Amino acid sequence: MDSNSGNSLYQSAQSDRLAFWADQARALHWHRPFTKTLDWSNAPFATWFEDGQINASYNALDRHVIEGRGNRIALLFEGEPGDTQTYTYQELLAETKKAANALLGLGIQSGDRVAIYMPMIPETVIAILAVARIGAVHSVVFGGFSSDSLRSRINDAQAKLVITADGGFRKGKAYGLKEAVDHALADESCPSIENVLVVQRTKQDVLMTSKDIWWHDALAKADHEHIAVGFDAEHPLFILYTSGTTGKPKGILHTTGGYLTGVSYTHKNVFDLKAETDVYWCTADVGWITGHSYVVYGPLTNGATQVIYEGTPDSPSFERWWQIIAKYKVSIFYTAPTAIRTFMKIGREIVDGHDLSSLRVLGSVGEPINPEAWHWYREVVGGGRCEIVDTWWQTETGSIMISPIPGAFKTKPGSAQRPLPGITVGIVDENGVPVKTTPKGSEAGYLTIDEPWPSMLRGVWGDPERFKETYWDRFPGKYFAGDGARFDEDGDIWLLGRIDDVIKVSGHRLSTAEIESALVEHRWVAEAAVVGAKDEITEQAVVAFVILRQDALDDAPGEANIAKILRSWVSEKIGAIARPRQIMVVAELPKTRSGKIMRRLLKDVAEGRPVGDVTTLADSSVMKAIDAKLHSGATD
Ligand code: WTA
Repeated sequence: MDSNSGNSLYQSAQSDRLAFWADQARALHWHRPFTKTLDWSNAPFATWFEDGQINASYNALDRHVIEGRGNRIALLFEGEPGDTQTYTYQELLAETKKAANALLGLGIQSGDRVAIYMPMIPETVIAILAVARIGAVHSVVFGGFSSDSLRSRINDAQAKLVITADGGFRKGKAYGLKEAVDHALADESCPSIENVLVVQRTKQDVLMTSKDIWWHDALAKADHEHIAVGFDAEHPLFILYTSGTTGKPKGILHTTGGYLTGVSYTHKNVFDLKAETDVYWCTADVGWITGHSYVVYGPLTNGATQVIYEGTPDSPSFERWWQIIAKYKVSIFYTAPTAIRTFMKIGREIVDGHDLSSLRVLGSVGEPINPEAWHWYREVVGGGRCEIVDTWWQTETGSIMISPIPGAFKTKPGSAQRPLPGITVGIVDENGVPVKTTPKGSEAGYLTIDEPWPSMLRGVWGDPERFKETYWDRFPGKYFAGDGARFDEDGDIWLLGRIDDVIKVSGHRLSTAEIESALVEHRWVAEAAVVGAKDEITEQAVVAFVILRQDALDDAPGEANIAKILRSWVSEKIGAIARPRQIMVVAELPKTRSGKIMRRLLKDVAEGRPVGDVTTLADSSVMKAIDAKLHSGATD
């Protein structure tokens, strides 16, 4: 984007924020135009564009075909084994129509919830758009989550259908998904599920029962025509479960009109998208919010051509990503700092061997990017000529909130810099008072979003109280993000990480409380405390401290084995991403006199620092014992 258009966005948002958002919304196709922009009278429950009607799938597909862009490539799919597929917008629409009819044929109606548990393949995008097309509500569950996690999400949302695949390919092997679904549904444990639709991806053997239907059979029988109708702007579009401060993940609810406005506007402007010529690639899995907003809805509503890749960056070798960029001439690349740090460690040779001259804009998301990684990204990947956009946002915000806009001002390594036009943020102290800024910048404080925005979450599924309590009660009238932040001397924002019990491991969001509950579900474990310890590559790593049950000690197979078994247990309960890097068996946990576990001290141990102030501990010898044990090497 030339700097003028970037700057004019800031200007128009500043002169009339709501008119600015209404203009952004009007860039979409509305089945019925809206006349009202925002209703905040029932705060924190907002409505945006309330009297308008819109269809998300129509905006992602039909519109491009109707407006003459049907032959543009929508998806360039690269399978892990090297198989490829290409879908034009016209082709993606044709498949989505059939899938929508198949869903209707299974009795799925507007408002019904559909769980999607898939690898990163084109059918996943088609499934999402088919669900949205008929006004049903998708709940995508990351394919790396365990069957227990899938089961609890299905039950919380009372989903009627699961769309899955026999499996997917990862690190050179086929893994199973249908199997995990069977396990989740076993013993009537998900009574709301009526059918399971199964995409054939790996051709591995799967058990098909009377409620299981092959996707290809259902689509082959389905009618080819499907007319998308408009749904109310506030009609639910999806639920996405994310970790919070308690053991139970929250179902974050997004609705249609505002969400689409947010993702479409940010995708176009933050990445300076030129839809006719750019090739865009976001490496996120569709199971996370980044995949929802910047693989599915943002790029497709903007008519972009994008790469999707099934596997991991190291398969068959660490060359893979760079080969893909060179092969498809990717011009906009969006990934997480963890990946950059991994490649930094391996060395630039692996990147240097490829022609990456097509790259123009590089994005970063999911965790703070340290200046060193920022420079490496810019120089080694971007050849020193690409813009870097460090984008701060959350599952709850739906779309990017803080980021530079290419060309609008000079970027700064390590800082996400400014709220986007239309977004108002602040940094406050404990009492909600804005932090004082001096010519040197400000103290650290809590990041807030001070005015409602179109893609804001509309609630926590089934729990309006939790929505209010978690996000709005702490600083009345403002959205509490859960991140620490400070302003620097230029007024740019530096994100300082989470201030609650949420941790980020390789950009994936986990909750310490959730891992603790998984651990205490094991019959050996009496008590558990989990901390996120600094990690050079993954930003944070899971470190757990457990107290064993007395009666379990008899049959437990020695401490090293216990730690090993419990680490696998967490993988089984939640998913491999939550597997602790280290588990320490301890005799006691450090607690205050009121019984609160002092995680700060455990974090000191986990990060190898001298243990801090222990004066508030009920028994200060506890930390000495833990520390002594660590130094005796008796850990996993
Ligand atoms: C963190 C991911 C610093 C932050 C889109 C936030 C970041 C959490 C950045 C949300 C960034 C995300 N710089 N921190 N550019 N982007 N975060 O819901 O702590 O998986 O609260 O959404 O990721 O994680 P979530």
